[in-house]
Amino acid sequence: MTLSSAPLDTTVWWAHTSAASERLLRLLDRSERERQSRFRLQADRDRHLLGRALSRLVLADRAGCAPEEVTFDLRCRSCEEKSRTGAEGGRSGPEGPHGKPVPSGAARGWEISVSHSGEWVALALAREAPVGVDVERISEARDLAGLAGYSLADDEQRAWNALPEKDRAGAFFGYWARKEALLKATGLGLSGGLRRVAVSRPDTEARLLSWEGGGGPGAAWLSDLDRGPEYRSALAVLTDREVALTVHPPERTADLLRR
Ligand SMILES: CC(C)(COP(=O)(O)OP(=O)(O)OC[C@H]1O[C@@H](n2cnc3c(N)ncnc32)[C@H](O)[C@@H]1OP(=O)(O)O)[C@@H](O)C(=O)NCCC(=O)NCCS
Ligand SMILES: [Zn+2]
Repeated sequence: MTLSSAPLDTTVWWAHTSAASERLLRLLDRSERERQSRFRLQADRDRHLLGRALSRLVLADRAGCAPEEVTFDLRCRSCEEKSRTGAEGGRSGPEGPHGKPVPSGAARGWEISVSHSGEWVALALAREAPVGVDVERISEARDLAGLAGYSLADDEQRAWNALPEKDRAGAFFGYWARKEALLKATGLGLSGGLRRVAVSRPDTEARLLSWEGGGGPGAAWLSDLDRGPEYRSALAVLTDREVALTVHPPERTADLLRR
């Protein structure tokens, strides 16, 4: 087996919001603390704190450096493309620097993705292959048909419409998580267009089927992650290699956060 065909190690850590504690604030840099203080809801503060603190701890461990030596560049590919083509918007976007946190400093070469929803925070990590993770709490209350019209590709929408009412919410968030994981891996984010990215039906093995209009990844590995019946979650790794996935449960992550 040549080196390039060896499986790519990818790791996911799950954190429960109950693991958030004031102690972790020391791991945030100045701009992260400022952002932290702007969230009005405690739940948003907890999720943001956990995502950033966990990212620093894990990257410091992998890179063999102190957590404060781990820095991030924020990269929004949507805005980068707009500024390249001269369209409106630019590197900074509407709220200043934003986008995918790309490890820099001592942790350069590692790739991460963070997602939070409800009580859960997920961190995905790989070496030199972009990763994207998404977790979504299933919600029945929203205008699902409207959201489906906005986010599902035509074939996805047909398959979704044919589902019995009781399966629709779970299937919708299943589609959404897979598509958003791919969009986050590329760094495009939702501005990349959920409808352009077509994935397999949520009751079948996760796969990227097509990326309308170009700009998609050359190759993508996609998988669902299990976070119980109230959530849907997916992981995308932009690689043509097999992926060797390790998933750390919340108890294990809580130990790491307490150290
Ligand atoms: C950023 C975005 C992908 C987040 O999706 P979400 O379901 O709301 O939230 P998630 O919890 O799954 O992900 C949040 C994390 O995604 C990461 N992220 C932000 N922008 C990203 C991008 N372009 N690509 C990949 N990851 C991104 C951040 O780490 C963020 O964590 P943080 O808020 O703690 O910093 C989505 O809201 C989006 O694309 N927004 C951009 C809309 C916008 O402002 N457009 C105009 C400028 S481009
Ligand atoms: Zn942007």
